[in-house]
Amino acid sequence: MQTLESIAAVRGLVAARRRDGEGVALVPTMGNLHEGHLSLARVARARAGCVIASVFVNPLQFGPGEDFERYPRSFGRDCELLEAEGVDAVFAPPVAEMYPAEAGQQTLVVVPAFSRMLEGESRPGHFDGVATVVIKLFNIVMPDVAVFGEKDFQQLALIRRLVRDLCLPIDIVGAPIVRDPDGLAMSSRNQYLSPAERRVAPALHRTLEAACRRIAAGDRAWPAIEAEACKALEDSGFVPDYVAVRRTVDLLPPQEADTARELVVLAAARLGRTRLIDNLRVE
Ligand code: PAF
Repeated sequence: MQTLESIAAVRGLVAARRRDGEGVALVPTMGNLHEGHLSLARVARARAGCVIASVFVNPLQFGPGEDFERYPRSFGRDCELLEAEGVDAVFAPPVAEMYPAEAGQQTLVVVPAFSRMLEGESRPGHFDGVATVVIKLFNIVMPDVAVFGEKDFQQLALIRRLVRDLCLPIDIVGAPIVRDPDGLAMSSRNQYLSPAERRVAPALHRTLEAACRRIAAGDRAWPAIEAEACKALEDSGFVPDYVAVRRTVDLLPPQEADTARELVVLAAARLGRTRLIDNLRVE
């Protein structure tokens, strides 16, 4: 597996592999990989002859006071794991390679339909940073396919919209959430949890399950379902940012005509200093 730091090197590799007639799949990550990321690499592997994973902790998507500096980095181990999954190359650019513009002068990509609600409300500017780095990675790699995890449900919806609005010929594939046996969605940030917090953390998934059961049973009192879920999280020791019942297609509040199967329950909540997000579709 090759480790590439420059845009020119990635373009060279992609050109060579395309000359060999291979398709290209991209798996964008911020590193500190876990089984969830590796499942993305496997989906990519099944879809293209050349798989490129990016490992880049993107400063643009972290707000002031967020965890950019202490975001866990484990590049050597990440490379071993990706190589074992048959990934062809890791693109790990220095910040100056991705953002050569002066501070504050970087062109931003904004997806207003998705960037200001839910996570965007709690983390202003976050999705402008995500959309910008993703479009840059797409322009650098020019993949046929890009794979993202469904744990970041809003991010996935935003990227689908970005690709549609900008007419990019890239197939965006969502891969299912990978959970620990007790239901906690795998996340790089789980390692911030103390042992006591880790024991509490699966309550987030259980709360989503309870909300989905209510909806599947025909309850359509969305504000009551959301309020009850927030209360359950508080009772477990979380400080909820939001619990929201939304349409999977556009993440807007449900309309009369929407069936339960078209809905997803999304949540973000803090446990001590750690902010966790999760979501569950109504079955
Ligand atoms: O989901 C992530 O890890 C990041 O938001 C992404 C898509 C790699 C962009 O930095």
